Amino acid sequence: MSLLIQENIALKPYTTLKTGGVARYVLTVTNLAELEEAARFIAEKKLSYLVIGGGSNILVPDEGFAGVVILNQLKGVSYLEETEDEIILEAGAGEVFDEVVSETVQKGYWGLENLSAIPGTVGATPVQNVGAYGVEMSNVIVGVDVYDMKELSVKYFSVEECEFAYRESFFKTDKGKKYFITTVYIRLKKNSTPKIAYADLQKRFLGEEPTLVKVREAIISIRSEKFPDWNVIGTAGSFFKNPVIDEEHADTLKKQFPELPMYEAGMGMFKIPLGYVLDKVCRLKGIRYGNVGLYEQQALVLVNYGDASTEEIKKFAQTIIDVVFRKTKIIITPEVQYIETK
Ligand code: EPU
Repeated sequence: MSLLIQENIALKPYTTLKTGGVARYVLTVTNLAELEEAARFIAEKKLSYLVIGGGSNILVPDEGFAGVVILNQLKGVSYLEETEDEIILEAGAGEVFDEVVSETVQKGYWGLENLSAIPGTVGATPVQNVGAYGVEMSNVIVGVDVYDMKELSVKYFSVEECEFAYRESFFKTDKGKKYFITTVYIRLKKNSTPKIAYADLQKRFLGEEPTLVKVREAIISIRSEKFPDWNVIGTAGSFFKNPVIDEEHADTLKKQFPELPMYEAGMGMFKIPLGYVLDKVCRLKGIRYGNVGLYEQQALVLVNYGDASTEEIKKFAQTIIDVVFRKTKIIITPEVQYIETK
């Protein structure tokens, strides 16, 4: 089989926000040989490229994308090294992340259960260091295999080399962009204690023993209450990052809004739950302009209720950014990646 090349393809169906225009080229990559072909194609055409996995964290311009979209379909799940209490999972970057999580839980391996029901593919999880309910990918990743799209060579990055931070990694930096993630190696435990410190989760297990399967079920249930079903409503999960502010700013806000929760983030900084700010401070939960709004159950989640355009979403998001700044002097930034046309 050789590389599948398609031209002028609508990207809307490939994103969970369900907006955006047409891609000049779409290449579907199912193995390393095809990835090399794709890299050569991109170099030859002198175009920029964009990798789409589940499309759950991107905002594609209405004008479309003038370069090459690569649909990552690198599959395969296997279990490598095994010790008495650990196992290393090797997962193809194009695998659906939650299918992998589900399989590990069924097999009785601990590590990914708190990351249940997150949309997207395996390959996206290191890029933005996906995290939820007290666990981040950086806690479980051993390393990743990448393909250097410029040098046409394979390379391994250890967890340290991935330079993980809150929703950040080396792969998001300018230097990191030429690396296409092909495989992710994850450390799982055969026995572990459940991580249920997160308030929402703790409430579910009052007087009940949290088994591995039950933790996954609880997370799925919590998420289904807070997040819209991305198969039905256009959404990208949290649209903004939770902001981190300095102590002086935190003190000022504490005086203004005594109930505002804040969490120490190290180096004298404090992380603020933006969902709370949008909801209780700015009273924006459930707000809706035309087809765009903030979800009724979770203010941090922006939703496309109908046929909103990317422009409408950007305008709406900017309004939210402005309101939050006026009220709190906090500068918030999107977690969702805004794609440029070229
Ligand atoms: N809150 C409100 N009103 C709201 C939403 C939240 O008052 O409308 C309060 C909650 O009561 C809670 C606090 O704000 O005290 C934080 O809310 P929550 O625990 O729901 O988590 P979050 O900060 O909104 C983050 C991640 C999610 C992740 C959850 C669970 C970010 C940007 N978001 O959300 O990740 O699933 O924690 O761990 O860090 C994503 O990145 O797309 C994502 C969904």
